[in-house]
Amino acid sequence: MGTKRPDEIEKIRSACRICKKILIEISGLLKDGLTTFDISEFAESLMEKEGVKSAFLNYRGYPGIICISINEEVVHGIPSKNKYIKKGDLVSIDVGVVKDGYIGDCALTKAISPVSAELRKLIDVTEESLRRGISKVKDGCRTGDIGWEIQTFVEKHNFSVVRDFAGHGVGKSLHEEPDIPNFGTPNTGFRLKENMVIAIEPMINLGGSEVKILSDGWTVITADGLPSAHFEDTVLVKKDGFEILTSVD
Ligand code: MF3
Ligand code: CO
Repeated sequence: MGTKRPDEIEKIRSACRICKKILIEISGLLKDGLTTFDISEFAESLMEKEGVKSAFLNYRGYPGIICISINEEVVHGIPSKNKYIKKGDLVSIDVGVVKDGYIGDCALTKAISPVSAELRKLIDVTEESLRRGISKVKDGCRTGDIGWEIQTFVEKHNFSVVRDFAGHGVGKSLHEEPDIPNFGTPNTGFRLKENMVIAIEPMINLGGSEVKILSDGWTVITADGLPSAHFEDTVLVKKDGFEILTSVD
């Protein structure tokens, strides 16, 4: 909920840059025939090389280094040696790292070619909804302004917003106040202030918005079994706008 000091922001920025670098690097390795565990092992070795730790491992008992969610899996898929990536899949990767006690959190979705135009559009609309949500961020804006922006864009394209999970504040903890829902009403919700840090993370479904959790206690899947996409960035609230902290130059 709180605003961050300059020294804290610098540490979060540093964690975020490494986080995005690792996310981009492992997303480039995705291919038909690898398991989600293979990808997680690459991520683990990159984290070691960068001197950071997974922010997800053991968080509320989560058993993985990263999350990899395929097709109807929305988020929080646990890397597995039995889960193969194949052509036509939508693969969402979510990476969180801790460096010097501060966290960075980001995610993206990639298609394993060939995929239908409809699935490409789902990915593009989800990424663009994140961009639009981020564009609303500045001192004094409210969480409902961000949610409205994401929701209206997504629904215009006849996709649906997952409502059971939201973005969140980021700092020493992975999930801090406030929640950043991906739907809402303008001029309602928590009022953001300069020097707050938030993760915005739309989870967008091809079909209906309902989700359920698998018996592993983590994997979130769509209730109708249709595919879902997910993008996430960690963002600093500035006086007149924002800085995307999870970016590489
Ligand atoms: N970026 C995701 C989130 O904020 C990843 C959390 S995975 C968890 O919900 F296992 F750590 F919970
Ligand atoms: Co997050």
